[in-house]
Amino acid sequence: MILCDKGLFTLHTKNTTYQMKANSYGVLLHTYYGPRVSGCDLSYRIQYTDRSFAPNPDEDGGSRLFSLDAMPQEYSTCGVGDYRLPSLELELPCGSRSADLRYKSFRLEPGKYALEGLPAFRGPEGETLVVVLEDAAAQVDVELWYGVLEDYDIITRAVKIINRGGKTVKIRQAASLCLDFQRGDLDLITFDGKHVLERCPNRAPLVPGTRSVGSVRGTSSHQHNPFVILCEHDAGEDHGLCFAACLLYSGNFEAAVERAQFEDTRLVMGVHPYHFCWPLAPGESFTAPEAALCCSKEGFSTLSHRLHRCIRERLIQNPWAGQPQRVLINNWEATMFDFDAERLIKIAESAAPMGIGLFVMDDGWFGARDTDTAGLGDWTVNGRKLPGGLEALVPRIKALGMDFGIWIEPEMVNEDSELYREHPDWALHIPGRSKVRGRQQLVLDFSRKDVRDRVYGDLKKVLSSADISYVKWDMNRSLATAWSAALPAERQGEVYHRYVLGVYDMLEQMRRDFPSVLIEGCSGGGGRFDAGMLYYTPQIWCSDNTDAIDRLRIQYGTSFCYPVGTMGAHVSAVPNAQTGRSVPIETRGLVAMSGTFGYEMDLGQTTEEEKEIIRRQISFFKEHCKLIQEGDYYRLSDPFQNGPYTAWQQVSPDKREALVSIVTGTAHGAPPFLNLRLKGLDPALCYHVNDEGSYPGDVLMEAGWPLPMPWDDYQSAQLYLSAV
Ligand code: GLA
Repeated sequence: MILCDKGLFTLHTKNTTYQMKANSYGVLLHTYYGPRVSGCDLSYRIQYTDRSFAPNPDEDGGSRLFSLDAMPQEYSTCGVGDYRLPSLELELPCGSRSADLRYKSFRLEPGKYALEGLPAFRGPEGETLVVVLEDAAAQVDVELWYGVLEDYDIITRAVKIINRGGKTVKIRQAASLCLDFQRGDLDLITFDGKHVLERCPNRAPLVPGTRSVGSVRGTSSHQHNPFVILCEHDAGEDHGLCFAACLLYSGNFEAAVERAQFEDTRLVMGVHPYHFCWPLAPGESFTAPEAALCCSKEGFSTLSHRLHRCIRERLIQNPWAGQPQRVLINNWEATMFDFDAERLIKIAESAAPMGIGLFVMDDGWFGARDTDTAGLGDWTVNGRKLPGGLEALVPRIKALGMDFGIWIEPEMVNEDSELYREHPDWALHIPGRSKVRGRQQLVLDFSRKDVRDRVYGDLKKVLSSADISYVKWDMNRSLATAWSAALPAERQGEVYHRYVLGVYDMLEQMRRDFPSVLIEGCSGGGGRFDAGMLYYTPQIWCSDNTDAIDRLRIQYGTSFCYPVGTMGAHVSAVPNAQTGRSVPIETRGLVAMSGTFGYEMDLGQTTEEEKEIIRRQISFFKEHCKLIQEGDYYRLSDPFQNGPYTAWQQVSPDKREALVSIVTGTAHGAPPFLNLRLKGLDPALCYHVNDEGSYPGDVLMEAGWPLPMPWDDYQSAQLYLSAV
């Protein structure tokens, strides 16, 4: 619900309230974000006080009581007296780098807005408020867009900047959100890591000054995720006030938090200002990507439940939604580049009787691709490996009762490729500087439509040549030398953002042309696992690390924002290729099952006993897929604590079913007696627990369930609960 009253804007969701107010000088102040409160004017909390060294704008008229530097701003500016983190920085024709905004008007629009060329949570439900601010000197309007997804407790924001003047103005920074708090006693949680260990939560109390995470790699990155949480010091899974901010963007981003001098805090999140400069000619506009906000006063579980539901129902667009989930087999870890049609068929033949419904052919099927030094860019089938092409291979896979999927990496080119020999200038490069390779490959200039058209044209032929219903869209290096031969010198600051827009454009085109193809995102595993990609690719390969014990950490961190059904997770062979660890097949299956679920190994190489276990895993997953992927997700322990076990739980929305997954750590002599307290059950219902009797929900939640005694490392157990 959106209420507008003389410059006071109140946004209510079911459980939260967000408010801002234009004061008598026209400065838009942020008055409140938190648990839902009645709709009074909360600006009484903002005190007008004389603060030394806090400059006073002209309107203050000498009273010295009003300063931008001392008040919570809705969209912070720079160069005119607010020294905290800016959201907007303009470079004016005179050379000044500043911005100063005053309230101009507002409008309400029906439904939740969409953004052209950018991902955004979808309507049609929801409401849109647009508050228009103006920088009179720059002759620039700044439209702050708010989407209210009331039922989901999500408020989205986007920003549109319009040049209303007669001269070009350069945008140096345009954040998607600014959120001020009149308190400094908060913790910041960021989700950080590296290739093969992504999204590990790091929590620390704010100290005076700024902490910022982000990416300047051209992708959202393995290193930091465009998702952060701010919370009270004592907030935990089940209690405490917490706020989440999530950016729907897959390129360079920054999330910066400043604890400032008056114990106030500012969060600014958006496209990273690094190498960003966007000249805005008269009449032109620029749209900053969408960010989403969520708040819970009941801790992280509720925060995650709200985000998960909104992402599932209003962000991802899965053409296979509502149909039985297809368990997948992928040949990569089994074969790497070394395969031909017969080897693939053999893998498929051993997978089909297990109940696997989707065969995915990974890297190596095209051009002269026998190693990672050649072939990228040449999207034609390698006739030596696949004689007769996909036209011959796919019907053979289909005849086994499986659908067919394919790996692509459209954004890349190897120098040893036909495409590169034809168009060496199509790779991002800086004139006069030597090349910078990553995994032996260069990055195509996806800011250019001609480049995208060529690559897409080739891919379209492949995707049309056979019955393909799944695509794994990979991206295996970070950008460097991000200079485009198609843009003049003064517009090179657009390249990183235009690159991302180009990726989105091609993804959108592919979704339009192949509406029944499920696209899985990937970037060396989880290097581009963000809400922007999820709009186009409803699932993303979570990590190249398939070791089940490391996955406990990766999937735990990922779960704070992203639902289980978006996390690509497969069982692979042991010893694991990343860690050398051998984890029992039961445990590998249980961990991968809390994801999209698939296998990435040659099942023909497994023992009869393992085959039987795999068959049972697949049928269990199929039976409980809805509960696993759409149930409310509870983290029952923190795997980073190296405790005796890691556990998590899914509960169906009606609370009549639940699944508890437990993985033990390393075994020790004389293990303690431990009881695991379950969550989210109906205290008044009685539940069957596996075949081991029936127990009341309150008992299971308060007294707990005895954990099995571990015998050996990394054992696992599943408890399936159904209401009596
Ligand atoms: C990336 C992906 C892997 C695999 C390889 C193929 O690393 O994350 O899953 O597809 O590329 O080259």
